[in-house]
Amino acid sequence: MINETAPLTVPQAIRARRSIRHYLPDPIPVERLTELLDLTLEAPSSWNVQARSVVVVSDQEGRDGLAWATGGQPHPQEAPVTLVFVASSQTWREDLSDVYEQARKNGAWNEQFIAGFSQASLDFHRDLEERGLLREYAIKDAVIAATYAMVTAASMGLATSPMNGWDECKVKKVIGIEDRDDLHIAMLLPVGKAAEERRHPGRRPLAQNAFDGRYGRGYDSVPGRTVRV
Ligand SMILES: Cc1cc2nc3c(=O)[nH]c(=O)nc-3n(C[C@H](O)[C@H](O)[C@H](O)COP(=O)(O)O)c2cc1C
Repeated sequence: MINETAPLTVPQAIRARRSIRHYLPDPIPVERLTELLDLTLEAPSSWNVQARSVVVVSDQEGRDGLAWATGGQPHPQEAPVTLVFVASSQTWREDLSDVYEQARKNGAWNEQFIAGFSQASLDFHRDLEERGLLREYAIKDAVIAATYAMVTAASMGLATSPMNGWDECKVKKVIGIEDRDDLHIAMLLPVGKAAEERRHPGRRPLAQNAFDGRYGRGYDSVPGRTVRV
């Protein structure tokens, strides 16, 4: 069971996290939720375009709506908050001067870098558009942010459950974007205090899913290398 008082380290949080399907009704204090969102949006994004956002659903109408959109699964109904991760496939076309201004102010990127980078970003995204990959790339950013949210929540003693089992049109309707073709649902993540204990269902051995240089060559099969499995 996740410790609720002391924040867990990243490795502890990763090991303690389980997908939790039942939640206590206790609300999440607003400062904790804000910190969770802040750390979630620290996630990296392709070209720092930040083509992902989070809709925090906590009111009864929204929770009922998400229960409907997930075919009656209990977690979005019971959890005090569900984070809906939205991917945007058109943000790269919009005005990103604020993004570049921040990087300039932070001393991260200079003028010359910004000029080259912004042009390269446009070229990259136009190519994705031609190949029909804009949605896929935006979804990657949103899912990485959701992963940050899961680990951060676990470190705070909060339970989560990543969810794929939903109808995209229905989720979009619940959060008020049913008419937006440029926005896509990447993941639902109920968050709250666990009302059940879940055992680790286990993972396949490292050698089965970690490879050395070539797909299928088990990482621990390399002569002389010792790997804990
Ligand atoms: C992308 C993704 C989608 C998932 N969708 C659902 C879901 O819709 N409903 C559900 O109960 N669990 C869902 N899960 C949870 C998985 O069943 C769970 O992660 C897996 O059984 C391993 O358990 P653990 O997370 O406790 O390690 C999902 C997990 C992932 C990564």
